[in-house]
Amino acid sequence: MFNPEHTVWILFPVLTLLGSCPVRSVFLESDQDTSVPEGWTQAGRVAASDRVQLTFALKQQNVDRLRELLDRVSDSGSPQYGKFLSLEEVSWLVRPSELTHKVVSGWLQSHGVGACRTIQTRDFLQCDMTVRVAETLLPGSEFHRYVRGSRSLVRSPALYGVHPELAQHLDFVGGVHRFPSEAEAVSRAWADGKQREAGFHLGVTPPVLRQRYNLTAKDVGSAQNNSQAVAQFLEQFYHPADLAEFMMLFGGGFQHHSTVDRVVGTQGGGKAGLEASLDIEYIMSTGANISTWVFTNPGRHESQEPFLQWLLLLSNLTAVPWVHTISYGDDEDSLDPAYMERINVEFMKAGVRGITLLFASGDSGAGCKQVSKGSNVFRPSFPASSPYVTTVGGTSFKNPFKVTYEVTDYISGGGFSNVFKMPDYQVKAVNSYLQGMKALPPKTYYNTSGRAYPDLAALSDNYWVVTNRVPIPWVSGTSASTPVFGGILSLINDQRFLKGQPALGFLNPRLYQLQGSALFDVTEGCHLGCLDEQVQGKGFCAAPAWDPVTGWGTPNYPALLAALLDK
Ligand SMILES: *[C@@H]1O[C@H](CO)[C@@H](O)[C@H](O)[C@H]1NC(C)=O
Ligand SMILES: *[C@@H]1O[C@H](CO)[C@@H](O)[C@H](O)[C@H]1NC(C)=O
Ligand SMILES: *[C@@H]1O[C@H](CO)[C@@H](O)[C@H](O)[C@H]1NC(C)=O
Ligand SMILES: *[C@@H]1O[C@H](CO)[C@@H](O)[C@H](O)[C@H]1NC(C)=O
Ligand SMILES: *[C@@H]1O[C@H](CO)[C@@H](O)[C@H](O)[C@H]1NC(C)=O
Repeated sequence: MFNPEHTVWILFPVLTLLGSCPVRSVFLESDQDTSVPEGWTQAGRVAASDRVQLTFALKQQNVDRLRELLDRVSDSGSPQYGKFLSLEEVSWLVRPSELTHKVVSGWLQSHGVGACRTIQTRDFLQCDMTVRVAETLLPGSEFHRYVRGSRSLVRSPALYGVHPELAQHLDFVGGVHRFPSEAEAVSRAWADGKQREAGFHLGVTPPVLRQRYNLTAKDVGSAQNNSQAVAQFLEQFYHPADLAEFMMLFGGGFQHHSTVDRVVGTQGGGKAGLEASLDIEYIMSTGANISTWVFTNPGRHESQEPFLQWLLLLSNLTAVPWVHTISYGDDEDSLDPAYMERINVEFMKAGVRGITLLFASGDSGAGCKQVSKGSNVFRPSFPASSPYVTTVGGTSFKNPFKVTYEVTDYISGGGFSNVFKMPDYQVKAVNSYLQGMKALPPKTYYNTSGRAYPDLAALSDNYWVVTNRVPIPWVSGTSASTPVFGGILSLINDQRFLKGQPALGFLNPRLYQLQGSALFDVTEGCHLGCLDEQVQGKGFCAAPAWDPVTGWGTPNYPALLAALLDK
């Protein structure tokens, strides 16, 4: 019989021996872009005795089974629809083998790394160690310090390897490469060089959203156990006094909360931020009278990856909110597929628990990447391009002075993944878009076999936000539309809970079955693309039914509730 204890016993002396002679190590994330993002400057090598924190993503078991389970619990036609797993059940399914644990812990211990913490699903290990040890464990790595404003980070500009024996037990090591990167709302007040006339436009406020999306004063939460959350990774925080003032100014006519029930993590030390204020003020305006949490972590340690920290937290808390909205995104081509595949598994782990994850689709339209001089392609963003999350694009009012129908907001992120193949749930919708459009961008710019996004949209233009006690106009970005849609899904969860039904969980399979009914279809306008002769600044254009600019469209609450309340 196979005996893991025995295997490890023999393996270790061998590993230790090999440590002293040159062994070709295996690069875990060889496609990771290690260039330094704009705004960060290198501040030299980190001293060998300084401490870093590395996060080891251990190879999980039963990932195929997890994917099957996610399909079943999210498919309203399946007898298992809504039969979600507890965190403990997820843990039994995916936890790494004893062998994986022994090999990885043995390797760490043999280098004197003792201080490691794990999480409930046992598939991550987080360890503190000196830079000297980190650089020995991960041959090739070289830790440098980077600064931007008052923030500093420790990262390696060089790729890292691990011993071949370890490579089969690890997906990647966090805390080595990725810089934080987040879609951030901006005020367009000064965008075109001159201040706009704030006096004349309508501006999006909670009553405007509630009117447009058909929410009556009665449409607020009332179920006992309902909850929703925003996750933020910026060095900024929401201020309780801003939220209170916002609700005083704009919260008339509907019952709502004016305080956050739980803050998980550490709020940044800086000023209240526009993005942080926006997320919380708006999820609590559509998802009114629903208990709301904020997950916030700008990266306590210089070597932490805040987004990864949040995923670890989700798998380390048995009770977490049902709906999460997140405005985080990186260029898909800057990340290694092995990293993204593993992050997808983390999304699946949330989905089988009945958790709904909404990501902003990004604010650069189709994006643009130069492949060679004079030759460009569109540039998808991740996690927006993940098949296991629901991605939200942006719209604006046709007439900015009135609550009218919506058209494309030109910044709305959308397109096709170059890494993940198109999931079954969307094949029909996407193909009918591709076949129905008379004029599409040249085929060389995108990959029609990939996961297409966004799935949905909501208003993303001209919001009022209170930040540092001041109401700011013209705030825009898909990081506004995402919490708005999140709050609406929370209201639907609420009605489902009152009827004794399970949460919506991973929405996409069910959403695509609706074929756009219950949503306001957005059919006008195009988003940004490359500024070259071939496409002249344009990406894709909206069209009837699904499109890669605004997805299926924006929420008509009573209709969407009716459509999602029958099972
Ligand atoms: C996960 O939670 C446990 C218990 O609450 C804690 O001891 C552990 O340190 C946490 N893990 C991490 C990586 O923070
Ligand atoms: C919702 O809003 C739209 C447009 O504002 C309106 O035409 C419709 O009648 C409203 N009610 C329902 C139940 O859809
Ligand atoms: C607000 O929510 C609470 C439960 O959290 C509920 O008791 C109350 O009735 C709700 N208010 C309205 C107007 O539905
Ligand atoms: C609410 O949560 C508590 C504790 O987690 C649980 O005992 C109770 O059954 C839940 N109630 C509903 C209506 O789901
Ligand atoms: C297009 O996407 C597929 C998967 O959806 C992938 O296998 C292929 O490499 C992609 N092509 C390019 C040029 O990126």
